[in-house]
Amino acid sequence: MLNRSCALIFALTSLAAGHAAAQADIDELVTRGEELFNTTVGGCATCHGPTGEGLVGPSLHFGPSPANIVDQFVANPVMIVVTENLNPTDDDLIAISMYIRSLAGLELDPALPAQWQSELVALAALETEEQEFRRTEYELAMERVQRFETVQETWERRANEGSVWSEYPSRIVGRWDAGEPKFTPEPGKTYWYENIGTTSSPAVLFSGYTPPTKNALVVGDAATHEIIASYHIDENLRSVVHTSAMSPDGRWAYMVGPREPNADGTPDPAGAWTMLKLDALTLQPVLQVTIGARLHHGQVFRDKVLFDTFVRDPDGLGLFLYDPETDEVLGGIRDVDMGGFIYTVWPDHDYERIYAMMEPAGYAPGRSTGMRSITRLYEGEYQALRPFWIAVINPDTWEVEAEYPIPGYRPNWAVIDSAKEHIYTINSSSNASKIRLSDGEVIWTAGTGIGPYGGSLNADESELWIADKGEAAHHLGRTITVIDTHEGHATHSLYGAYKVDHVLLSPNGKEMWATSNGEGRIYVYDAESKELIKKIDMPGNGDAHGLIWVHYDDNGEPVVVRDQGNFHGGTNPFLGRPLDY
Ligand code: HEC
Repeated sequence: MLNRSCALIFALTSLAAGHAAAQADIDELVTRGEELFNTTVGGCATCHGPTGEGLVGPSLHFGPSPANIVDQFVANPVMIVVTENLNPTDDDLIAISMYIRSLAGLELDPALPAQWQSELVALAALETEEQEFRRTEYELAMERVQRFETVQETWERRANEGSVWSEYPSRIVGRWDAGEPKFTPEPGKTYWYENIGTTSSPAVLFSGYTPPTKNALVVGDAATHEIIASYHIDENLRSVVHTSAMSPDGRWAYMVGPREPNADGTPDPAGAWTMLKLDALTLQPVLQVTIGARLHHGQVFRDKVLFDTFVRDPDGLGLFLYDPETDEVLGGIRDVDMGGFIYTVWPDHDYERIYAMMEPAGYAPGRSTGMRSITRLYEGEYQALRPFWIAVINPDTWEVEAEYPIPGYRPNWAVIDSAKEHIYTINSSSNASKIRLSDGEVIWTAGTGIGPYGGSLNADESELWIADKGEAAHHLGRTITVIDTHEGHATHSLYGAYKVDHVLLSPNGKEMWATSNGEGRIYVYDAESKELIKKIDMPGNGDAHGLIWVHYDDNGEPVVVRDQGNFHGGTNPFLGRPLDY
């Protein structure tokens, strides 16, 4: 039951004799207790606060005895981190109890250690032998695979060796006149862009609400948060919006397109999937290009744009690089060469590597495998899933350099810290992990709100903000979880919009912007005080996905400074270079 040492080893011989401790011994106990109390993994400070006044766990200022603490090990499942990591001996517990008393300003009675010791001896005498329970064949098989350690120890490379680069011959299948500018950007100002769709959740809006029938591109002022202009595109060009993306120079926006058009302009069910290119000033489409897959996410990558995709055509790619100058798909990676399905992809801040969130194939046809498997886990049909992993790709050689299994299911999002030491993954299985890039070591895994999707670090990287969307759980997630990146514990659970999918630190480093699929709104929080400072209604409450910020320099030249992948164009609050506006 408890992994506590049975033999009581007394650091203080006077205690063994049942005598009162000397003052010097008390001081030594308090010092030792302080150290144990503040141990990083399994220490008490993590949950009860450095002063013991309470954090996730309650205040300890009543002065628990070692026996009180042992009672918690048995009664309180949260304490597993203490028994597994700190694994305190009886002497350790006496030291901790003494230190807690010192924190609480309670009397450090020299008779206490001896008294506590006899209590612990009495308690140990009550401990029964471990009882044997029957296990079925199924349970024995489960026991052999259930630990994440087993996944790590038995990991075999999934990706092909050598370059995994493939080409896709994109074609331009539609061109339009850009129309008239809807606004005139001012030098020195910063603007936000948002793609909105037609699939918000009527149930969470007002009664009688009907979603719009057209997708739109929206532009707003980053400083005032206000919408400046928007444009709804032709219904024939509608598909399901999943993010916002732009060219590095901020002149073009990209939006998911339908399948390529028939002669009459309606989508051809046998045609290739397309993407639309829109003018950032007129907000109107100018081009439709086949990309061989339904667009999911995109972000600036070097002087190109890196996209990942949903449904693939037979020749479609799971991720690809797009040239904004020539409007061509340059090429990318097919799932089959990766040994699984590519879901989302993430760059580090200086575009050295691409990190792909990978799904095991075969739970459902094609790319639906990841979503189907995790949904069925929530529904109870599956009890465990095959592992999901991160593939690290070198964008110069297109070789997969490393693979790390993750301790959760269906990672949706990843954030690479500015030092490129750790990657944070946010998993549909309602947890998030911090993984060391040098060797794949999992630093911590922590619970989040239900079905989390996107996330962002705050400017000093001490917090990971997570959008609790309700992904795969069929739950209307309505919170944002803030996790302490060092300790791996939630420090705040914020009221959020329904189904927030992305949350992003703004380029000035001061705000967190959360896009709501359910409500068709953007919620803006003060990153420091965590107060909700603004709700921005999208036109017609069209569902909001992702965000881009574009800055115009003093000469009126635009550049993307922030998108879902990272900060760009010289701005980076993580590296001490926020943008003032
Ligand atoms: C992972 C978080 C976590 C850690 C680490 C942790 N605790 Fe707790 N502790 C809790 C929570 C949560 C509760 C409240 C449990 C409940 O609701 O019954 C609790 C309850 C307690 C209680 C009971 C309080 C009461 O009012 O009776 C004691 C005593 C206690 N913890 C001592 C400790 C000590 C000592 C340590 C370090 C050795 C420690 N805990 C580490 C989370 C933690």
